[in-house]
Amino acid sequence: MEYNTAVFTACAQFVLLCFIGIKAAEPSGDGGGWSSDSGFRLQDEGDCNIDILDGFSLSHQQYAYSRPVILRGLTDNTRFRSLCSKASLLEEYGARKVRLSTANTFSYRKVILLFQWTSLCRSMWTICCGRKTLYFFGDNNFTEWQSLFEQYESPPYVLPHTSGAYSFGIAGPGTGVPFHWHGPGYSEVIYGRKRWFLYPPDREPHFHPNRTTLSWLRDTYPHLPEEEAPLECTIRPGEVLYFPDRWWHATLNLDTSVFISTFLG
Ligand SMILES: *[C@@H]1O[C@H](CO)[C@@H](O)[C@H](O)[C@H]1NC(C)=O
Ligand SMILES: *[C@@H]1O[C@H](CO)[C@@H](O)[C@H](O)[C@H]1NC(C)=O
Repeated sequence: MEYNTAVFTACAQFVLLCFIGIKAAEPSGDGGGWSSDSGFRLQDEGDCNIDILDGFSLSHQQYAYSRPVILRGLTDNTRFRSLCSKASLLEEYGARKVRLSTANTFSYRKVILLFQWTSLCRSMWTICCGRKTLYFFGDNNFTEWQSLFEQYESPPYVLPHTSGAYSFGIAGPGTGVPFHWHGPGYSEVIYGRKRWFLYPPDREPHFHPNRTTLSWLRDTYPHLPEEEAPLECTIRPGEVLYFPDRWWHATLNLDTSVFISTFLG
C-alpha cells in the first residue's frame, strides 16, 4: 500500500511537470492523435515469420489448435477506430479512473490514475515512476466503457464452446507484456504498431520474469541460437493476430498503441 502511494505521488509529480509543457492537442490525422510527431518510437519491426491470411478465405481449423496466424481485412472497425481517437476517448473517458499495470510477468503492481492524466505526457507511459514501465491493458470497467466496446466488431471466428471477453488498452512505445501464456484469443491493433514474439506451449522461452520485453529484446534476443528463435511479426491496424491455447507470447508496442484483445474462454 505504501509502495503504491509512493508510486502514485511520483506519477502525479511527473504528470504535473509534463502538464506545464503541454501544447494544444495533437492533430488527429491517421494516427487518431496518438502518434507522436517528434516523440520516441521504436523503428525495428523485425521479420515476420507468421502466416498472414486474407480473413475471408480462412479455413481456420487449420490454425485453431496448432499455430498463430495473422488475419487481414477480417472486420471493418472504422467506427470503433474513430471512437478511439485521442480526442474522442479523452472527451468521453477523461474523468474516469483507469488502472495501470507494471510490465512484469509475476509482479503486477497497479497504479490508478485519471484517464486524462495518462495521456497528458506521452513519455509518461514509458518512463513514469523510475524504472517501472506502466501501461493500460485489461482491468477495464465494463460498465463505464460499455458504450465503446459495443461498437467493436470482434473477429467472427470463435472456437467451439467458447465466448469472447475483451481487454482494451493504450500503451506507449517501448512498453509491452513479457512472456506469459493463457487461453486462446485474438489481438487487434486499432492505432500504432505492436510487435509479437511467440513460442509453442512445449518450448518455454528464456526470459527473466521481472524484466521488460524491451530488455529481453535488447539483451537476450540477439544471442538466441537459430533453433530458439521465436515466431514473430509486427501487426498494424486492420490486422488481427490469433494465438492458440497456451502459446507463450510477449508483446512490444513500437508506437503509442491502442489495442483490444478478445480472449476465448
Ligand atoms: C465501474 O464503474 C461504475 C460506474 O462508475 C462504478 O460504480 C463501479 O464501482 C466500477 N467498478 C469497479 C470495479 O471499479
Ligand atoms: C521478481 O520480483 C519479485 C518482487 O519484487 C521478487 O520477489 C522475485 O524474487 C523476483 N524474481 C526474480 C527471479 O528475480
